[in-house]
Amino acid sequence: MITVAFFDAKDYDKPSFEQYGSRHGIRFRYLETKLNEDTVDLAKGCDAVCIFVNDTVSAEVIDRLYELGVRLVALRSAGYNNVDLQAAFGKVHVVHVPAYSPYAVAEHAMALLLTSVRRIHKAYNRTREFNFSLNGLTGFDFHGKTVGVIGTGRIGRIFIDICRGFSMNVLAYDLFPAKDSGIDYVSLDELLEKSDIISLHCPLTEETRHLIDSAAIEKMKKGVVIINTSRGGLIDADALLEGIKARKVGAACLDVYEEEADVFFEDRSGHILNDDLLSRLISMPNVIVTSHQAFLTHEALNNIAETTVNNILSCFEKDGACDNELCYRCENMEQCKKERRGKCF
Ligand code: NAI
Repeated sequence: MITVAFFDAKDYDKPSFEQYGSRHGIRFRYLETKLNEDTVDLAKGCDAVCIFVNDTVSAEVIDRLYELGVRLVALRSAGYNNVDLQAAFGKVHVVHVPAYSPYAVAEHAMALLLTSVRRIHKAYNRTREFNFSLNGLTGFDFHGKTVGVIGTGRIGRIFIDICRGFSMNVLAYDLFPAKDSGIDYVSLDELLEKSDIISLHCPLTEETRHLIDSAAIEKMKKGVVIINTSRGGLIDADALLEGIKARKVGAACLDVYEEEADVFFEDRSGHILNDDLLSRLISMPNVIVTSHQAFLTHEALNNIAETTVNNILSCFEKDGACDNELCYRCENMEQCKKERRGKCF
């Protein structure tokens, strides 16, 4: 029996993890708290920890997990910017779920865009009050508009296909453009200058932190719509607010926010929100915020649980390799990943 401390557990996580875990002899110990330096000891007696996007696996947390005999950090997310992979190397294996439903995220990005541009959120509230006025609800056609997609991996490419279904022109920027994809790649500056809508689908790295800052916003078209379903840190939220106040940014659709860790995923209604920047953004009529919900479909939850359980099993198999292992060496030497026959250390 493999025992796994499941941090930041939510009601919607449990059914799928119970289903796949019980089939394969894995016992999940569900904990509502997030993993960090203060809570790491809750993993005592467990073989692995299972974490989500706002758990913090710093070098200190890794050292303590190692002391406690925990040998695996299983992320139930694709993004892993919250794990210090360099510190983990040689001590604790790290696995993630590279793709669970890129459709869920790409479709949510489009849902936010349609809601925002066609003022559906405003109309919904109005008609519930029997207010049938159309004043202030004017949108714009997507047909013929230019959408700039930053990051053309699994999610970005599905988002591109969806946009093409609306007859939009698509420009893209990626550090590693996909060959023979028929995607029109341009420089980041050209994308910023020419796009009516910009959607972020690249990971958060040192390089991409605050990719959208005041200098980037300065280059954009007046009235640009910015969508972020990737990671909050890609946008300097202060600069975004300034861009909105200056009427430069026409609308923002945010499923992620840099300081979301202490706010998102919880019911905070009835409480005073301490984050003034988030409060101000939410108060704007042209900003829509969802609480990191882009992944949340039945299909995605099932895929996350199935892949995580398989990741855990393969990591605890003697000499077993796990295709979804993340390691500092693989990140820096492509060679390592290609030659992987067993675990990374
Ligand atoms: P992916 O790895 O398939 O694609 C990422 C793309 O970004 C790759 O093509 C890569 O070359 C590109 N890229 C890397 N560095 C770049 C840079 N500096 N500039 C431009 N492009 C760069 O990842 P996938 O599955 O498409 O996911 C994208 C992001 O979506 C994830 O990193 C994650 O942060 C976020 N995500 C958000 C979810 C949500 O619920 N809101 C759920 C799942 C993922």
